[in-house]
Amino acid sequence: MNTRIAALLTLLCIPALQASAQTAVPRLVTRGETVQLHADGRPFLLLAGELGNSTASDPATLAPIWPRLRAAGLNTVLAPVYWELVEPVEAAFDFSTVDTLLAGARRHDLRLVLLWFGSWKNSMSTYAPSWVKRDPARFPRARTSDGSPLDILTPFAPENVEADARAFAALMRHLASVDAERHTVLMVQVENEVGMIPEARDRSPAAESAWWSPVPHALLDRLSAPGPPLHPALATAWAAMGNRTHGTWPEVFGTDERAEELFMAWHFAGYVERVAAAGKERLPLPMFVNAALVRPGRKPGEYPSAGPLPHLVDLWKTAAPSIDFLAPDIYFPNFVEWARAYDLPRQPFFVPEAGYAGSSTAVADALFAFGALDAIGFSPFSIEDLPSDALLAAAYEALASIEGLVTERQGTGPRIAGFRPPVAYDESFDESPQEFVLGDYLFRVSFVDPWTPREAQAPETHGGLALALSDDTFLVVGSGVTITFEPLDAAAGRAFIDRAEEGRYVDGAWVPGRRLNGDQTHQGRHLRLPPGTVAMQLVRLYAVR
Ligand code: DGJ
Repeated sequence: MNTRIAALLTLLCIPALQASAQTAVPRLVTRGETVQLHADGRPFLLLAGELGNSTASDPATLAPIWPRLRAAGLNTVLAPVYWELVEPVEAAFDFSTVDTLLAGARRHDLRLVLLWFGSWKNSMSTYAPSWVKRDPARFPRARTSDGSPLDILTPFAPENVEADARAFAALMRHLASVDAERHTVLMVQVENEVGMIPEARDRSPAAESAWWSPVPHALLDRLSAPGPPLHPALATAWAAMGNRTHGTWPEVFGTDERAEELFMAWHFAGYVERVAAAGKERLPLPMFVNAALVRPGRKPGEYPSAGPLPHLVDLWKTAAPSIDFLAPDIYFPNFVEWARAYDLPRQPFFVPEAGYAGSSTAVADALFAFGALDAIGFSPFSIEDLPSDALLAAAYEALASIEGLVTERQGTGPRIAGFRPPVAYDESFDESPQEFVLGDYLFRVSFVDPWTPREAQAPETHGGLALALSDDTFLVVGSGVTITFEPLDAAAGRAFIDRAEEGRYVDGAWVPGRRLNGDQTHQGRHLRLPPGTVAMQLVRLYAVR
């Protein structure tokens, strides 16, 4: 809406029109058992990728990248906003990098998720402006137990959080003025991979004093409140000290590194809350935090501790209500395991960093995330490095064409499924067939292609997404899978393929390509989506007793 017309409507107090302008703000909406992102008044799937850390600092570097991202099927780009560049001098803001992002994205019909590289980026405070970094008396650092300063702003200093909150609020105020009509920016990530390392607890004087202070009532209330159960790790830590309802941190949780991590998580989350709330007041976009995940066997302090990890979800949610959801950066091979750990109640599922662009498992991971976990988005990191022949582009193109079919089915029971072999941290994988129900049929998916030599295929890269168009007609998108069917009702007899075809969705309508039969369905025995390509197939089944 033109700003003068908007101002006139405000003056005239025309509520209906104001309300419709308001609904254009991207927001999170609960649908059945899931939460979706709405943009432009409809559910939106982020077919995304995240820029490498330094790319968005230079317009000339960025310029040639946009068309490639669009050609790779993306509809959204995750891009950093650097505190050091937007506030090089205290209170003198320069949003030219943000405006460059907005202009480039709009020119290429892309949306943005902005990443606020503020006080912390991968634990460290390297994105704080010089005037912050070089003034440790005013902006104190976290310290190790021997008193050495870390390159980490302490979360215990009011000056730190207020400076960050002012800058973030200025960013959101700027967006409110330059993006209120288009809403090119869909969501904002607040900070990046917050975490404490190489010790579990900050030992700066302010941190020490907080450690020996009473645990805040808000947390004690959450511990003892009826309602959603606590994460077992938190429940165990609390029980170990006798489920105390008052006392200092050591009294309530003990003194080991697990207790130290709980303490730091509470205070990091409270800091992030202050920053996020200051920004939301200017523009209420959905906001989230991302986590660096934990390698098996590592203790707090040995990994970036106290970030928004699944075992700390109760602390983060209680201390940071302005943060809408927690999101994982999944670089480890066990994508399915970590994704399921972040499939949390009452929040959307989004992977802001789904490994490095070009990863061979990206297609299977993405289809699994959208189909099995109702994901709102998927986003490999360093997306400008995506090889031009990456299969992800075909998967994104297919997903874009069926976006409405997918979002309509998410959260609503057995009308959509996602499947891929689970891979362990050590890269071993379970290629056993998987079963799920859609419509009137049980689907059995095999990940080993029967017509390709075993040594020439990689079943851990195979997977797909299926959805029910009706009780007997289904759409499957995927790679390297064969599917057989059985009626759910055993009395219905055996299932057979009435019709199978490959094709595409164009403007919401199915456009068939080859009719698949004969060798392509193994004479009606199965549906086959070959490896090495992303196919879309429609199948209609029937049963005979
Ligand atoms: C996770 C971080 O969030 C990213 O910004 C980037 O540093 C990648 N790790 C790895 O390069």
